[in-house]
Amino acid sequence: MNKVPFLDLSALHSGLEDEFTEVFRGSMRNAQFIGGPLVEQFETEFAHLCGCRHAVGVGSGTDALRFALIACGITEGDMVITVPNTFIATSEAISQAGAIPVFVDVDERTSAISVDRLREYLETHCCIDEISGTTFNKITHKPVRAVIPVHLYGQVADMDPIMELARRYKLIVIEDACQAHGAEYFSQKNQTWMRAGSIGQAAAFSFYPGKNLGAFGEAGAVTTNDEKVARAIATLRDHGQISKYIHDIEGYNGRLDALQAGILLVKLSHLTKWNEMRRQCAKRYNTLLEKVSGVGLPHEPIWARSVYHLYVIHVDDRNALQKFLDDKGIGTGLHYPVPLHLQKAYSSHGYKEGSFPVSERLCSHLLSLPMFPGLNEQQQDLVVNAIQEYMLESERSGGGHHSKTSPWD
Ligand SMILES: Cc1ncc(COP(=O)(O)O)c(C=O)c1O
Repeated sequence: MNKVPFLDLSALHSGLEDEFTEVFRGSMRNAQFIGGPLVEQFETEFAHLCGCRHAVGVGSGTDALRFALIACGITEGDMVITVPNTFIATSEAISQAGAIPVFVDVDERTSAISVDRLREYLETHCCIDEISGTTFNKITHKPVRAVIPVHLYGQVADMDPIMELARRYKLIVIEDACQAHGAEYFSQKNQTWMRAGSIGQAAAFSFYPGKNLGAFGEAGAVTTNDEKVARAIATLRDHGQISKYIHDIEGYNGRLDALQAGILLVKLSHLTKWNEMRRQCAKRYNTLLEKVSGVGLPHEPIWARSVYHLYVIHVDDRNALQKFLDDKGIGTGLHYPVPLHLQKAYSSHGYKEGSFPVSERLCSHLLSLPMFPGLNEQQQDLVVNAIQEYMLESERSGGGHHSKTSPWD
């Protein structure tokens, strides 16, 4: 048993046991396992949390991304832009919708899509057809139809300039908010804080158990302010049915179970408090780690209120530090160790080492520390003291990392 686990869900869940049991008992008695009032109530309350008109429950975050793309009109042969440092589900969903994923590099401070690289891709690799207004890739001559910014680690990407570029190039914006339930972005344009999932045409959320809002299995949702998109997703998730055994299109088996919706409803009422606890843990990590030489801290711009799904530091000799912490019973994670453009799955896409230098550098330097609501001060002290011990030892033996603050500074 780890002294400090990377993630501890049991502590969160133990106080809610009676409410969870009530959900199981209710579902067993009314035998309404698919759809029904629990799913509808969860959709209403989750849409409200996201500051959005509609939420449609689906089977997973991957379903949510795929259905959002299809419902927004992405089709065979379209090109869709995203980043290489994300979970593969982002680009899988693009391919599963029949489109081609195109990567642009990320910002080294936020790890989210770089607005400069996105602009550069659109300005240098694309042209706008004067008659249709569609953006085309100059080499493939395929339409570039959408962009998926990923709100990685619980922090919203810089959406104002992304939405402005999307307007200019007629791109659909689908937010990958799978790690960002309740995260906020200050929009200069709208002069207000906006919730993740309420900014683009649609957004995908995952309720995979380890997420800030996690089910007891697979689950996801799409949020949107567009009623037509919401209706299309409700049809797609249910085999294209518009009524019992009447299929306007071929769809998918991608529904949200009533049991999962019931569990999520119980947990949703605690989400804001849990997110605040994560923010407090992050603040304390920042204060303690600021004094440790060789550790780059997460960057939260003034326009972001992160919900710290993950607390990710940057260090030069990441693998050695991870092993050192593991030996001391401290759990850590890598999100993600290999950028998508260098995965075998995309070896036919023509990318090579050096194609996205920032993503590549991040992948080899990042380390996710224990982070969950309920992580206590004693556990945080153990983590920080162990990192400090490692840094001092390594300095003494003349190895590694000697930058005073961030490896990027
Ligand atoms: C950024 C991101 N996108 C997509 C997904 C896919 O979600 P799911 O695992 O629920 O299909 C995840 C979750 O693992 C994720 O972290």
